[in-house]
Amino acid sequence: MIKTVKKLNNGLKGEITIPADKSISHRAIMFSSIAEGNCTISNFSNGADCRSTLNLFKKLGVEINYIDEKTVYIKSTGRLNPINGNVFDCGNSGTTMRLVSGILSGQNFDSVLIGDTSLSKRPMKRIIEPLSLMGAKIESTDNHAPLKICGQRLHGMEYFSKLSSAQVKSSVLLAGLNAEGKTIYSEIYPSRNHTEIMLKYLGADIISDDKGVIITPSTLISKDINIVGDISSAAFFIAAGLITKGSSFIIKNVGLNQTRTGILDVVKRMGADIELLNVRKEAGEDVGDIKVQYTENLKSCEISGKDIPRLIDELPIIAVLASQAEGQTIVKNAEDLRNKESDRITSLVNELKKIGIHIEETPDGFIVEGKHSIKGGAELNSCHDHRLAMSFYVSGLISEKEIGIDGFEWTKISFPEFEEIMSELTD
Ligand code: S3P
Repeated sequence: MIKTVKKLNNGLKGEITIPADKSISHRAIMFSSIAEGNCTISNFSNGADCRSTLNLFKKLGVEINYIDEKTVYIKSTGRLNPINGNVFDCGNSGTTMRLVSGILSGQNFDSVLIGDTSLSKRPMKRIIEPLSLMGAKIESTDNHAPLKICGQRLHGMEYFSKLSSAQVKSSVLLAGLNAEGKTIYSEIYPSRNHTEIMLKYLGADIISDDKGVIITPSTLISKDINIVGDISSAAFFIAAGLITKGSSFIIKNVGLNQTRTGILDVVKRMGADIELLNVRKEAGEDVGDIKVQYTENLKSCEISGKDIPRLIDELPIIAVLASQAEGQTIVKNAEDLRNKESDRITSLVNELKKIGIHIEETPDGFIVEGKHSIKGGAELNSCHDHRLAMSFYVSGLISEKEIGIDGFEWTKISFPEFEEIMSELTD
């Protein structure tokens, strides 16, 4: 599907509410499925990735029912009993495959995890290696899906990861939850900590700080979970507001977990006019509203090292934003962007060049030269990548000539409501 986006003349105005956080939605289904008892998950993500997780746990024998589009009721014994075979489809979702591997490695049955073409190309060595050190038996095709997991009794371990990845950390912690002895995990820079927060909320014996996590095998007890809005989805609106003349609006109910707010720190460093309002807690997670105003004099910045895990999914939209900031914005140490739903360095740079953004690829990131007007007048390929599709849409709002986005339907992966919410700010 080709989506046409035209320049917006009047700015974005009003108030919007961002749908549920994808990372937290996945975890809510997974952890409630292995917890004992009944619970209601409200404000659950409508994206295809989270539905993959939900359907997978239904196939693992957990009673999961939709009460309405965004509310799910789960009745669980804490034990998984596959129904209709042992092949489980993770769709496009890396989070599903990597976290579920940690859960299934320690079960008393065997399973096979499969994914779509994109997921089957993504690296799985990062989880196979640590899980194997805990006694897991996982067969793969050259460290790629399908993953054949032969359920085993696992043991805890002490592990340091050179890669800062919440998916790897969560996979190991979930294996550790059902292993013999403690598991101690640390990583080069802290990655998002939703797993630690939710496991603690559900009663796990888990201690964590900036230096690492220690988990002791424990039983989870179900509790209702209300999921906060996704800052990674809000990021498209934050960027759109900052670069579209005349914009002034409020984004409500955005998750503000400090392992995810790198985007807010970066835009503040760029001189953005944003303000946090009504900051509070929800199921252990920080949440608040964000006021965004068009900012004429954005300036470039450097993004590297420990910044990266705190805004890894926001780097494509940051590239668009940087095109409207004075000077050179340099993104370094982000080589793992090449392992996302597409190679988010090469795809992003090639596509944004087509509309006249001054961007160059580097081995571990990109450099954007601003501030230049965007000429537009070209068709960009989403490369089957939801975050590229939405970043390109935002670039279209300030392009001189209209742009086309081929494969815009991929937004369904994380944010099917994207265009509808955008229209709330333009009507
Ligand atoms: C996620 C972690 C990040 C992120 C992904 C979701 C998670 O991946 O890019 O969209 O829910 O744990 P990595 O852990 O590979 O960095």
